[in-house]
Amino acid sequence: MSDSPLIEEITADELYRDMRRGNPPFILDVRNEEEFANWVIEGLPANSLRNIPYFAFLEDEEESVKQVPRDREITVVCAKGGSSAFVASILAPHGIRARNLQGGMIAWGDLHVTTRVPSPAASGLSLFQMNRVGKRCLSYVVISDSEAIAIDPSRHHESYLSLAQAHNARMVRVIDTHLHADHLSGGPGMTQSWGVPYYIRLDDVAGARFPYTSLEDGARLALGSSVVEIIALHTPGHTPGSTSLLVNDKYLLTGDTLFVSSIGRPDLGDKAEEWAQLLYRTLFERIACLPDDVLILPAHYSGAEEMRRDGVVATTIGEARVHNSVFQRRTEQEFLEFVLAHLPTQPRVYQDIRLANLGRKVLDEDQAVEAELGPNQCAATLPPPA
Ligand SMILES: [Fe+2]
Repeated sequence: MSDSPLIEEITADELYRDMRRGNPPFILDVRNEEEFANWVIEGLPANSLRNIPYFAFLEDEEESVKQVPRDREITVVCAKGGSSAFVASILAPHGIRARNLQGGMIAWGDLHVTTRVPSPAASGLSLFQMNRVGKRCLSYVVISDSEAIAIDPSRHHESYLSLAQAHNARMVRVIDTHLHADHLSGGPGMTQSWGVPYYIRLDDVAGARFPYTSLEDGARLALGSSVVEIIALHTPGHTPGSTSLLVNDKYLLTGDTLFVSSIGRPDLGDKAEEWAQLLYRTLFERIACLPDDVLILPAHYSGAEEMRRDGVVATTIGEARVHNSVFQRRTEQEFLEFVLAHLPTQPRVYQDIRLANLGRKVLDEDQAVEAELGPNQCAATLPPPA
């Protein structure tokens, strides 16, 4: 049905660009109520999102159509783009212009938007942030001369290689800042498919069933002409092996340790108090010692308000000291009490994702898609309501 020439379609990328241009459509989400409650398209203005399940249109077309605004351009969304195409075809004869989101929420969850992080021309550095918008996951490609490093890539690792190739660079390393629980890593796949060496700290992947090099504290990774240097900083707490990457002393890729307005949750290993103590030392005895102008580039974000006007999700250490409510000076005891009191529920699927990221569980494509549905829940504090 989605092939019908009568139904106008929009891709996830086009939808995102419309939203960024300040021209968001009204989203009519026709998934069931439970799916809608778990995950929606975020960043829309007020009164721009409504859930009318697909079956409601089947049961009572007239009544359902009455609930759809007639003065707005409508984009209809479902899980995969099939039932939304059907609903869009119902709306057209009623004089409502409706487009179908191609590929539905799965396509939305797979959309990666690449934004260059500004850096001085003389630095020899090209730094790109890959924003997986639907999941609020961030990953990076660092390029210097003809060499590239991917950091925290998603399982769609081809797009990282394509970016490097577009800049005449070859991928020389892939790094995970830690063992991810919310999404499937592209690191091992990049090694297996393309022979790119994979780096992650041993603490997180002991017993993993793939080759890797442990990323030790203080390791220095030269890139290209060696003008660009990446230093690994062991920053445990979100996981025992969490490692941040300091690029040219100016950019700190923090993984899930420090976000723009929160910190990484320390409870994913069922050792919340112990890991929160590690996190306290990491945040206030290591990261807080860095200069104010170091730019924090995290692996996740909580909402569009954490995005700068240029589209990059980032903040400086100095800004975080003032605006990040969890990165405020507290005694260790106060910090533990604050963090442990604000932890959201851990999604059950995270255990499967961890096992898959260790190579100890194989997920087929359908299972991988299912496991990655929904936004990340890696922050220690809940994001504001969408
Ligand atoms: Fe994480």
